[in-house]
Amino acid sequence: MAGLRMRAWALSLPPQVVTNAELAARLDTSEQWIFERTGIRQRHIGGTTRGLGAEALAKAMAAGGLGPDDVDVLVLSTTTPDRQIPQTAIDVQRMVGLSGAAVDINAACSGFVYGLVMAAGLLALGSRRVALLAAETLSAITDWEDRSFAVLAGDGAAAFVLEDGPGELVAWDLGADGSGSELLTCERGGLLRMDGAEVFRRAVRATADSVARTLARAGESASAVGLFVPHQANQRIIEAVAARTGIPMERTALVIDRTGNTSSASIGVALAGAADCGVVEDGDLVLLAGFGAGMTWGSALIRWAT
Ligand SMILES: CC(C)(COP(=O)(O)OP(=O)(O)OC[C@H]1O[C@@H](n2cnc3c(N)ncnc32)[C@H](O)[C@@H]1OP(=O)(O)O)[C@@H](O)C(=O)NCCC(=O)NCCS
Repeated sequence: MAGLRMRAWALSLPPQVVTNAELAARLDTSEQWIFERTGIRQRHIGGTTRGLGAEALAKAMAAGGLGPDDVDVLVLSTTTPDRQIPQTAIDVQRMVGLSGAAVDINAACSGFVYGLVMAAGLLALGSRRVALLAAETLSAITDWEDRSFAVLAGDGAAAFVLEDGPGELVAWDLGADGSGSELLTCERGGLLRMDGAEVFRRAVRATADSVARTLARAGESASAVGLFVPHQANQRIIEAVAARTGIPMERTALVIDRTGNTSSASIGVALAGAADCGVVEDGDLVLLAGFGAGMTWGSALIRWAT
């Protein structure tokens, strides 16, 4: 296996902020209900998936001092492409001015972890550098009259440029269970529909079990994890997973209060934010874990190196 160095990263959030008070003025809900049941205080809304993605990737490329020919493959995770053809990665490639291969992946909200494992595989196969980008505009497929999902949705993107180096993908676990395929759906051209309570139940179980498998494969315990970065869908899901896995909330990255659920971008946004704040240091074990429609799930333990 090649090593895994985080050469550079950046995030992009649209400027428009929508508060709980603004949603409560339009929907049969309240500021207090939204915060107590989800942990969300506000979300960023607007832009396009390709626009947010290109902004995040261009910033990451600049931060890493990288030029157009320095990225061999762009792996773009999105569940909300602006258009069906061409793939969003092609638009982003053109907008950022890259010369390498470009592909979209969709594993719903687990996409960042799926993409990370794929990126590590591409590096092991000899790619010099892989850009992992997760970009989402959930607002575009949200029914703004449906209070159960409208309070959750947010838009955003996060980009990481990965290369061989001192860090490592220590262990990982990816999975899917198609028996949950009807719990969270969006037909072509339609709006998202969700059985929130059942998604909640399955999400806690699937994420906690995946984390347990990854830690067991790594031969590590929860106490070794320096930073836990879970998918930010509902703070109560995060708390339940943390409790089941034995990882304290003090070592868990939280951005959901400011961003809402940005689908597959959420782990990247939380990780980039933590890295920017210096919360994670070289040599730390960082555990990423997500779940999403499908249901899909994934977790990855990385040895952080910049
Ligand atoms: C959607 C979700 C926030 C609802 O919260 P909850 O506490 O589980 O609420 P329930 O679904 O049990 O519903 C409880 C009541 O709250 C109501 N409710 C739902 N949304 C509401 C809102 N925004 N404001 C006020 N009441 C609301 C329901 O209608 C229900 O009312 P009822 O008892 O009269 O039928 C929660 O189920 C959830 O987060 N699910 C997982 C979502 C997720 O992770 N999705 C993304 C996957 S990547």
